[in-house]
Amino acid sequence: MLTTAAVLVVLTACGSQPPSIDAGTTTAVAPTVSPSPSATPTGSIPAPAQRTPEPTVASEPAGDAPSSLAAVPTTTAATAAPEPSAPPAAAPNPEVDDPASITVVVNKRRPLDPIDYFPFGLVLPAVPLAVQEANGLLRGETAAAVEDMFAAAQSDGVGLTVVSGYRSYQDQVSTYNHWVAQNGGNTAAADRISARAGHSEHQTGLAFDVGQSDGACTLSPCFADTAAGQWMAANAHRFGFILRYPGNAEGITGFAAESWHYRFVGEETAAAMRQSGVATLEEHFGLPPAPGY
Ligand code: DAL
Ligand code: ZN
Repeated sequence: MLTTAAVLVVLTACGSQPPSIDAGTTTAVAPTVSPSPSATPTGSIPAPAQRTPEPTVASEPAGDAPSSLAAVPTTTAATAAPEPSAPPAAAPNPEVDDPASITVVVNKRRPLDPIDYFPFGLVLPAVPLAVQEANGLLRGETAAAVEDMFAAAQSDGVGLTVVSGYRSYQDQVSTYNHWVAQNGGNTAAADRISARAGHSEHQTGLAFDVGQSDGACTLSPCFADTAAGQWMAANAHRFGFILRYPGNAEGITGFAAESWHYRFVGEETAAAMRQSGVATLEEHFGLPPAPGY
């Protein structure tokens, strides 16, 4: 059973910020978000006028500027080396670029395209939600894998919940702003734990935050030490999930460790990463690190 304080943390983390809540209920609820019937085939939401602009950030996270830019030599024309040119753009690769690909890589330097991408086929998996108001919607293949995984965990005596699944662009605006406010307006601190809108995996419908059925350590570092956290770390790959923000990888993923955030990539990719020991999607696909925006 979640405490009221814990439930508030959960809900505000999800960006829903409801005024009143019924703590502890784990019954699945009908989706409150459904694909717009007028959505375009690209998945873009055709209602930009209703959206709040993405928050602007006054200061870049430390260490963001490439050292090569900080050390541009002040040479004369006679001795100047050739003008440094921008690195060649990577060739398009739908496997990691297409927001509908199950292996899309979204990070601080790889925003969703379109930025307000809306996934089709969102469904509510038949598994417990951490709280009744949690948004547990996920893409169909992710939801099916979640159902299989939660059943396997249950067989092992471990109760799992979905704390937060799909979040729209606008949900993520609210979520990010919440964490900026929680950190006294310190955007650099918020940027370590919450993605800006258009940069969150939650917007793809492929990622979710997992909880333990008793609410222990929800969205907290100590989740890693719970039975649920340990079961997930040992077994999630079998169902096509990876731990997206492992420890000691902030310089690559851009985010502090989140032992609760799992990303569906399919069994093939999850197995390959398990086999190779490569911990991040960026490294697996040979993409540049994304420590900052
Ligand atoms: N907490 C993760 C990074 C997100 O906001 O998507
Ligand atoms: Zn998450």
